[in-house]
Amino acid sequence: MIPPIGQAGNLAERFRGRPPENVLAWVLSEYHPRIALASSFSREDIVLIAMMTDIRADARVFALDTGRLNEETYEAAEAVRRNLGVSIEWHFPDREAVEQLERTKGLHSFRESLENRHECCRIRKVEPLARALSGLRAWVTGQRKDQSITRAALPVFEIDGAHGGILKINPLADWSDEQVRSFVRERGLPYNRLHDMGYPSIGCAPCTRSILHGEDPRAGRWWWERPEHKECGLHQSSHGADRKEPPVPPLGRKKRDR
Ligand code: ADX
Ligand code: SF4
Repeated sequence: MIPPIGQAGNLAERFRGRPPENVLAWVLSEYHPRIALASSFSREDIVLIAMMTDIRADARVFALDTGRLNEETYEAAEAVRRNLGVSIEWHFPDREAVEQLERTKGLHSFRESLENRHECCRIRKVEPLARALSGLRAWVTGQRKDQSITRAALPVFEIDGAHGGILKINPLADWSDEQVRSFVRERGLPYNRLHDMGYPSIGCAPCTRSILHGEDPRAGRWWWERPEHKECGLHQSSHGADRKEPPVPPLGRKKRDR
């Protein structure tokens, strides 16, 4: 059943202060196989893949191949497939839409205007995401609050109004970069080599660069744009620092937490 509006607040209350593994155990028991993790093969996503497959080996993982990913990202995806035994559900953009875009506007239209950049992200990411999510009742992402000013108020549970009101879970919302790194180190997980090359954030190759020490973690994403524009449309709700928290509704039905 699609979660009713208000359930996100109930769940937030119920799982406040609980580790991501508890959150994942509950959402997988409730929604599998109609729940999947969206993976860009960042460290965060690989941490979540490990946690989810510990809970159940057949936990679902999908990825959007925009056609412009870095080779290092494909290597990380293959390492995850081999080492963790996960089959990745890849989704591609609509072929005709990409051909039309490249034939009319060239290969770097996204650098010319914000409108063009949004058009490219819409074709290569947003539309394939909608296909990936169709039929799901919940999805999991690797977003964290301290990645960006646009995520400062990111909740662990939210209702995704842009995708039919399904549940969206951000289990690592409150984790720090150091917690993510330690988990990868301690578990000996594979990770994207781009992280060692100064890329805290993994995106498309032509729109992502490495950052300098002390720069904002998302400074390398669409570096020619203003910070408040650095979202590609995969995550459409506003969780910026200026967002007002909605009141938490009263607790709903109780079931033993795992
Ligand atoms: S983005 O909106 O700017 O592209 P970001 O790169 O920070 O997002 O990634 C945040 C989360 O979005 C990732 O942890 C992952 O869950 C999801 N995500 C981003 N890119 C992809 C992708 N290519 N395929 C699947 N999921 C993705
Ligand atoms: Fe296109 Fe860049 Fe968006 Fe990738 S990040 S879809 S290349 S505009």
